Amino acid sequence: MRKKTLSLVALTGVTALGLAACGGGNASEDGTAGGGAAGGTTMRLALNQTEEHPSYIALDNFGERLSEATDGRWDVDVFPNETLGAQQEALQLVSDGTVDLAIVSGTQLENLNEDFLVFNLPKVFDDVDHQMKVIHDQEIVGDLYSSLEDSNNLTVLGGFTQGARSVYTTDGPVETPEDLAGKKLRVQESDLHIAMAEAMGAAATPMAYGEVYTALQSGVLDAAENNEVSFYTAKHFEVAPHWSYTNHLVGLDYLIINTDLLEGMSEEDRAIFDEEWQATYEEHTQLWDEATQEAIEQAKAGGATFTEVDSAAFDEPLSALADEFITNESQQALYDAARAAAE
Ligand code: GCU
Repeated sequence: MRKKTLSLVALTGVTALGLAACGGGNASEDGTAGGGAAGGTTMRLALNQTEEHPSYIALDNFGERLSEATDGRWDVDVFPNETLGAQQEALQLVSDGTVDLAIVSGTQLENLNEDFLVFNLPKVFDDVDHQMKVIHDQEIVGDLYSSLEDSNNLTVLGGFTQGARSVYTTDGPVETPEDLAGKKLRVQESDLHIAMAEAMGAAATPMAYGEVYTALQSGVLDAAENNEVSFYTAKHFEVAPHWSYTNHLVGLDYLIINTDLLEGMSEEDRAIFDEEWQATYEEHTQLWDEATQEAIEQAKAGGATFTEVDSAAFDEPLSALADEFITNESQQALYDAARAAAE
């Protein structure tokens, strides 16, 4: 870890002062509001992952490089573990300028503009490379990424893969959708993903990420779905150790920024910011495979099991979701462009 992030106690102090008072991002590292690094601006970034997660590592490095390349005019301080709020809240805080940047799952943006749901569909991306190619192609995503600027003061900068997501359960592994019948499966807060869980045979329970461990442990949930990296780093494997490779979705996280803040950067600094952000998502993609392998090994060592499923039995109901959820021309155009890039 590059530097100490604010302790919870210090953070509570900042919150009490009113984070909005230092809008534009000026919390210094000792937790006092107002001072930036050497007179520059330290942007606060909300993340719901631990410090071991590739997203934290890549973003922490982003801050370091950005600060160096701008002679301290801009820096990023990453707050992990939902310390600035769960994603739904973080989205709101970035929109009103209280927090500067956040990583939010695509499911959160689907709730602001339904066109985003296209990239949250099961089976829209074949793999991580395909996904990265589509989501950083400005011809495909340019209008989508600026679509929240007027309405919500949010700009989407691009994203990180969540890798392939699969189901894991508190009791034995599943092979077919029938095995999920009556099981309470946690999904992200998205109508599409509620339907996705139902298509896989389960009863959907939408919930914030940070609540999942306890809900699995206490029996509020029987199952969840995620990638191996979260399964391990969020310790879900301890309470729901039976991983079943449904591979139902290649998930997507976005980096969002407050639009006013972004527009306040000089042209020179904006160019540096864009260049360093590109290096950041490229680094994340490189870290991803290794982190996945490491997570599988560690989870196995901790008692988790990994089992194959009857893929065709899951794929068929999941493929039908695109027809059901694509309801307008802009969604269809995004879907077609994404699929064309796979061929
Ligand atoms: C992944 C993803 C997060 C998301 C989480 C979830 O870990 O990277 O952005 O919040 O899944 O299932 O909620």
